[in-house]
Amino acid sequence: MPQPSRVIPLLVAGLLNLAPALQAASTDPALQQRQLDEHSYAQPERVRISDMALDLRVDFDSRTLSGSVDLQLDWRERGARELVLDTRDLSIERVLGRRGDGGWRRLDFSLDPADPIFGSALRIRMKRQYEVVRIRYSTSPQASGLQWLAPSMTAGGSQPFLFSQSQAIHARSWVPLQDTPGVRYTYSAIVRTPPQLVALMSADNPVSPVRNGRYVFRMAQPIPSYLMAIAVGDLAFAPISARSGIWAEPSMLEAALAEFEDTERMIEVTEALYGPYRWERYDLLILPPSFPFGGMENPRLSFITPTVIVGDKSLVSLIAHELAHSWSGNLVTNASWKDIWLNEGFTSYVETRIIESLFGVERAQMETVIEQAGLRRDIAGMEPADQLIVLPPLPGRDPDDALSSVPYIKGAWFLSFLEQRFGRDEFDAFLRAYFDHFAFQSIDSSQFIAYLREHLIASQPEAISEAELQAWLFESGIPEFAVAATSSRFAAVDAARARFLAGALAAADLPASEWTTQEWVHFLEGMPESVEGSVLVSLDEAHRMTGTGNGEIAMRWYPLAERSGYFEARPAMAAFLKQVGRRKLVMPVYTALAASPEGLEFAREVFELARPGYHPITATSVAAALGR
Ligand code: BES
Ligand code: ZN
Repeated sequence: MPQPSRVIPLLVAGLLNLAPALQAASTDPALQQRQLDEHSYAQPERVRISDMALDLRVDFDSRTLSGSVDLQLDWRERGARELVLDTRDLSIERVLGRRGDGGWRRLDFSLDPADPIFGSALRIRMKRQYEVVRIRYSTSPQASGLQWLAPSMTAGGSQPFLFSQSQAIHARSWVPLQDTPGVRYTYSAIVRTPPQLVALMSADNPVSPVRNGRYVFRMAQPIPSYLMAIAVGDLAFAPISARSGIWAEPSMLEAALAEFEDTERMIEVTEALYGPYRWERYDLLILPPSFPFGGMENPRLSFITPTVIVGDKSLVSLIAHELAHSWSGNLVTNASWKDIWLNEGFTSYVETRIIESLFGVERAQMETVIEQAGLRRDIAGMEPADQLIVLPPLPGRDPDDALSSVPYIKGAWFLSFLEQRFGRDEFDAFLRAYFDHFAFQSIDSSQFIAYLREHLIASQPEAISEAELQAWLFESGIPEFAVAATSSRFAAVDAARARFLAGALAAADLPASEWTTQEWVHFLEGMPESVEGSVLVSLDEAHRMTGTGNGEIAMRWYPLAERSGYFEARPAMAAFLKQVGRRKLVMPVYTALAASPEGLEFAREVFELARPGYHPITATSVAAALGR
């Protein structure tokens, strides 16, 4: 944990710097100091990184990045003589400061003892305020923000692969920096790799790079540290449109292109709603299946799990989501992780709007019903304090563990509530102006609320009551006046399921030939806790559920099979857990297995084999679920 000693001056400085915003925002003391980032040792009120130049060598043998970073500094406090950076498991070799005459001077530095969640503060002391500080360093093979894959874990099987996942606080494990979303900077990089591989970053990737082992990047728009990203592998490119395309291992490229061919249309739809796309290119990078998330909105280059390539475009809302972050998150950013709903709630709302535009209201409603049902289930098992959209500060808590469907789905639900109350046209104009107003800034909930009051509520004060606003933002649970999404196609699924379970309809006669992934998901979620084995056998015979290539179905089918004692599914279940490392998909399966002593034993055996292929984020969650 950052020491309390640094919190006090920051509070004072925060009050001075942010006073206008906060005064306008709220008199509620719970809303004060929302800019403070509990997850960083940096002192942005004293000095800020404004630009960064990386020079890194990628070594697959030692599984390290090594080289240097030059940090351009913007000093904010006259007397400040110390630069405090976030690091985790970095070896710091040397620190230099650049003098006025261009020469470099060695600077004193020390690393604080490591905290298991936050890493260790790197303190660089100097006699005067250097404009540029150079740090020579290397990463650890266990860097929490990097995954090094052996060739066998890739689609091609012959080349190794490296990718980063910096959000929330893992950038510090591969670059010493101010690892807080409250600081933005531009960056450039030189990346040296084995010559047969291609390096990409969250920057200006060329569409036909020369494979010579030396890649140069520039990110000219200021971004926060969690959007730093790198990937290295045997990667090929295929265009979708003039400004959009796909990077993937060659054998994955064709399927990915077919699945995601609507990406340009998604960009156009979002621009029509919320204004121009401000990042020039928008490309997708398809990662190996060990990628721990569905997607990550690295600017200009969203990182995407291959598990959404199912052949029918039914899971492309993931692309809509990561693209939407180009407005909500990458353009207007949460200043600290307790306000992550400003990123994820807005993005989930925009995602649904994109899906509605491209695929129609019914598809958007089905997806929203599934999400809202999931939110209700999650909330039922959560502490009241974790159920708030405007979360209390999270000191001492790993943001990886604090992530839940509340900021995503309750946040999005609140925004659709506003849309319903104020009218779509009014709300669209409001949101568009909001993205413009706060573009390239990092803000907190109080700033959003102030803007909401001034620019939306003031225009129709009777449209929402103060009590309703309070309930959405500062109370646990889901307000009872919230209007839940409904879907007529799901009503048909409910009816079919009821007849099937009553024995009035055979599995083969379910109207499933027209069902999309969403309908199957809803069908499975409405099943009882457990069913007779024969029920699952009939579904398997008619619809080949076990062994499905669709992770959204697998993550629901295998737990049902396990709870029902349908052990015929076990071999396919094990294969799924070994193939896929996306945390959201494997966790429900492990959790279902862990419910019985015999299942737990099986799960531990599978985990043992699967673990070398898992990203640390997934491995940590699974280990916790299995009591390891
Ligand atoms: N930015 C998130 C992923 C993330 C959040 C990583 C917090 C680390 C900490 C990304 O945009 C996301 O939300 N991904 C979701 C997909 C989405 C459709 C809900 C995921 O990975 O499942
Ligand atoms: Zn997101």
